[in-house]
Amino acid sequence: MIQLSEITNSISPSLTRRLFNLAQKYDNVIDFTLGDPDIHPHDKIKEAGCKAILEGRTRYSPNAGLLELREIISSRYKLQYNIEYNPTNEIMVTVGGMEGLYLTLLAILNRGDEVIIPAPYWINYVQMVCMCSGEPIITAPVSTNDLSISIENIRKAITPKTKAIILNTPSNPSGRIISDDSIQQIAQIAIENDLIVITDEVYKTLLYDNAHFKSIVTYDKMKERTVVINSLSKEFCMTGWRLGYDNVSREHSCLCSIAVSVCSNRSTKKFGEIFGWYD
Ligand SMILES: Cc1ncc(COP(=O)(O)O)c(C=O)c1O
Repeated sequence: MIQLSEITNSISPSLTRRLFNLAQKYDNVIDFTLGDPDIHPHDKIKEAGCKAILEGRTRYSPNAGLLELREIISSRYKLQYNIEYNPTNEIMVTVGGMEGLYLTLLAILNRGDEVIIPAPYWINYVQMVCMCSGEPIITAPVSTNDLSISIENIRKAITPKTKAIILNTPSNPSGRIISDDSIQQIAQIAIENDLIVITDEVYKTLLYDNAHFKSIVTYDKMKERTVVINSLSKEFCMTGWRLGYDNVSREHSCLCSIAVSVCSNRSTKKFGEIFGWYD
C-alpha cells in the first residue's frame, strides 16, 4: 500500500475548489470561487496561439522560457515601472503564478523558516509554505472593519526565524490595495530584518475607481530582496494557458513572473544551476 508523505497528509483539500465544483452543478449561481475572468482572451492572443501551434512551435523551450517572451516582459517592466530586469538571467517564465510562488518558496525555505502572511490572504499561500517545510505566520489586519495591512502586527510577528513576507496587492480575496505608505514601511522592515519579499502582483492591472498600484520592488534597495510573481491568467484572461513569470534580481534574490522576480547573487546562480533555468 502506498504511504503518503507527512507533508501530503498535512495538506487539507481546497475549500475554494470544493465550492467551485459545487457551483458547477447550478445554473442560477454567480460563481465567485476561482479568480477566472468570464471573458475570452483578445483575438490577437488566440490567433497568435493558433499560429504558433500550426507553425510547429510546440517543442521544449529553454527552462527559463522563450527568450523573446522574457525580452517582452523585461521591456514592459522598464516602460511601465522603470525597473530593469535582464531577460537572460532575471526573468523566468513559469507554469502560472502558482508555479512561480511554489518554486520561490522551495528555493528559499529551510525547515522551520517562518513566512509572514498578512490576512486576509489567498489560502494557497499557507499550504505552499507548509509544503516547502516552512511555518506560515498569519498577521491580522488593522481590524475586522478595516482590512488594511497592520504594520504593527507585522513588526510584532518578526522573530529570528522569519525568512520572508508574502504581499498580495491588489489582494485576493479582499481586493485590498496596499497603500504607498504601508508598502514603504514594509520595505523598510524587510531591509532592517534582512527579509525576502515575495510580492504576488497577479491582479495588478485589475484596478477600479482610479485606484493606483505601486510595487514594492520600485523602492530603493528592494529589487535585490524581492521576488515578483506575475501571471497572464487574470490580466489577459488566460487562466487555462498556465503562463506566469517571476522577476528576480541576479544580485539578490530569486525568481521571475509574465513572468516574476528576486534573489541573492549566489542564490540566483544556485537556483539557476539546480533548476537548469539559464543556459
Ligand atoms: C492571489 C493569487 N496569486 C496567484 C494565483 C495563481 O494564478 P495562476 O497560477 O493562474 O497564474 C491566483 C489564482 O487564483 C491568485 O488568486
